[in-house]
Amino acid sequence: MFNDNTIKMNPFVYNSPVRGKDFFNREQAVEKILKETVRGKSQGSIWITGERQIGKTSLLRHVQSMNDEFNEKVTPYGTKKSLDVAFVFANVQGCENEDEFYNTLWQGLKDFFDFKLKKGANGYKNFINAMTEVYIRRKYFTVFLIDEFDAFIETISYKEIHTATNFLAKLSSLLQEIDEIDEGSKTFSCVFTANHDIKELLTANGIDNRGSGLIVEALNLKWFTQTQVSELVKKYMKDSDFQFTESEIELCFKSAQGYPYFTQKMLSLMYDAKKIITNDKQYRNTVKVEFGEMFKETIEDWGGDNMPMRTLKKLIEMVQKMDLGRQFTVVVMKTLEIYLRAKMGP
Ligand SMILES: Nc1ncnc2c1ncn2[C@@H]1O[C@H](COP(=O)(O)OP(=O)(O)OP(=O)(O)O)[C@@H](O)[C@H]1O
Ligand SMILES: [Mg+2]
Repeated sequence: MFNDNTIKMNPFVYNSPVRGKDFFNREQAVEKILKETVRGKSQGSIWITGERQIGKTSLLRHVQSMNDEFNEKVTPYGTKKSLDVAFVFANVQGCENEDEFYNTLWQGLKDFFDFKLKKGANGYKNFINAMTEVYIRRKYFTVFLIDEFDAFIETISYKEIHTATNFLAKLSSLLQEIDEIDEGSKTFSCVFTANHDIKELLTANGIDNRGSGLIVEALNLKWFTQTQVSELVKKYMKDSDFQFTESEIELCFKSAQGYPYFTQKMLSLMYDAKKIITNDKQYRNTVKVEFGEMFKETIEDWGGDNMPMRTLKKLIEMVQKMDLGRQFTVVVMKTLEIYLRAKMGP
């Protein structure tokens, strides 16, 4: 009798980065990150590009969660050292200047290693002190997981154009070696996430590409395929009282097209609707209408200057393929075209 009282919760997640067992797919991306930063010979960095709400933060948090079981060692190129690895997360979206950037990395290191170093007035010096502690004394190679990197670059280049070029040049040189540590080898790698790919970002902000010198491997984060959506559903609905049919998954894929956030959102709408609407036709119409309204609200919420060009273009392609009726397409396209014009300028 008590068993009948268990209310099964909607398993889909769309309000925050996914964590733990909710993290789905991305094996290839994780593989590439590890190969580039720690498993390869030369401890490189990687630039991950993806639309809004595609799963950048989720991916970085997932890599961060690997700290517990990751026991591979790193031998920085040109040394005979054998170092442990620390995956250190840092969101730099709110950083206003270089000092705050380095203090954010410092804070990430402090959270990870829980060291007793005092925070001084100079962000860069704090960072160097912490890296010395970590690399020399604790014998760790650090992989910084730097979320929202392009937002930070935009902030600093907005103020003065050379600031960003100089900052990137300095960071590139630190990635090669930190003079203050004087070991002649790499001490850390970075995994950057961004809405823009690196070329786009440099061009849009007038940053001198050669001058900045940041060398990174590029990775574009992908949307889920229909097969993957089907796998995601299986995973999330493992304990559910009912299951979606292949044709229902197709309904989801036709609308959300594998865009991770919209996929979870659509599945969530379907889950709630299916529990209360028994007529199949009525159920399908209801979720389509709800999805359309949600989609429209979301893009309005992301709209204006906040929406990266890359996301905007992807959304336009997406709406053109959507199957939510002509009226919906016309209205939403109009909104997107207004954003597009505003972005392109006169
Ligand atoms: N690996 C994943 N497995 C399942 N769902 C995911 C995954 N990655 C992303 N999602 C879906 O996308 C949503 C957004 O994820 P996340 O916050 O990581 O994206 P983001 O790219 O960092 O977004 P933003 O551009 O706002 O920073 C999640 O709430 C979830 O619905
Ligand atoms: Mg994010």
